[in-house]
Amino acid sequence: MTDQDRAFLGEIRRELVAALEELKFWLRIMNEHAGLIRNGLDPTEERLFREADRFFMELAPLRAEAETLIYTTPGDRIADLIERSLRIVSKLRDFKRNLTELIKECRILTILPADLIDHIRREADFFIGILHFVRGEPTPTKETIGIPDARERALTVPRLLISDMPERVEEIALEETLFWLRQNMEHADVLALYFRPGIQNQLVQITRSHAARLRDVLNEALEVNKHRRGLDKLLRRSQRVVMDWNAFLRQLFEALLHCSIPNGQINIFPILDDHMAREAEYYLEVLRLVGQVRRPQGMPGHEHWHPI
Ligand SMILES: [Fe+2]
Ligand SMILES: [Fe+2]
Repeated sequence: MTDQDRAFLGEIRRELVAALEELKFWLRIMNEHAGLIRNGLDPTEERLFREADRFFMELAPLRAEAETLIYTTPGDRIADLIERSLRIVSKLRDFKRNLTELIKECRILTILPADLIDHIRREADFFIGILHFVRGEPTPTKETIGIPDARERALTVPRLLISDMPERVEEIALEETLFWLRQNMEHADVLALYFRPGIQNQLVQITRSHAARLRDVLNEALEVNKHRRGLDKLLRRSQRVVMDWNAFLRQLFEALLHCSIPNGQINIFPILDDHMAREAEYYLEVLRLVGQVRRPQGMPGHEHWHPI
């Protein structure tokens, strides 16, 4: 084996380990999405219930398998799990897309809003993009993952590979920020709908104020995207706002576990609170990794930058 071969194989290994980290996070998320759909359909929607349940049951062992694999697991086993995950998550993504349309057209009965299903469809596309990145295949367009005015391909870089791409770190940071700020803002918008009127008004107010702050930073991110300046300031602000939002979710989850909020429960499954907190933490981890990369122009600090 030549040095070049060894370097090449080392690179593949890094990519597979990075993919494994993503599988551990995302397969749990996808499993929970399937459960959310299943439990949110009207009891008369038997066929869709069974379909959602099938996804739930198929994703559970994949998720368990990802959790048992470690970084020394042979590469072909990880590659095989990627392959199987891609197959089922692509089907789940299509299911979510169809469901969004069915709800919009009022052709099925459910308590789930179409926007929420489209939200989790976007997350499936983001995850699929990460797996395609690892396999060297085309990633989805930015539009597909909800980043407006951009028909170009998304980067969807696995977190552990960010440090390998210092020359693209600004682009990665902006894409992740645009994606996750929108997702977090929608979480806050949705959560505010599920408190009990009269008894939990204060929680509605707090949640709405987080939604407003997230919306504000998202607008700033869209401006940065347009003018290609002000990234550092944006990232600092975004980190602060998402950290506050995450702290609120964590506190609320504790309160839900102990039934210590007014009236004991809210009108949403407690696991969804934890789910939203984990998604906020994923983005905070991305920001931490971005901050660790030494940028050639001496970032952080320079306010003008150009994507490569
Ligand atoms: Fe989610
Ligand atoms: Fe989400």
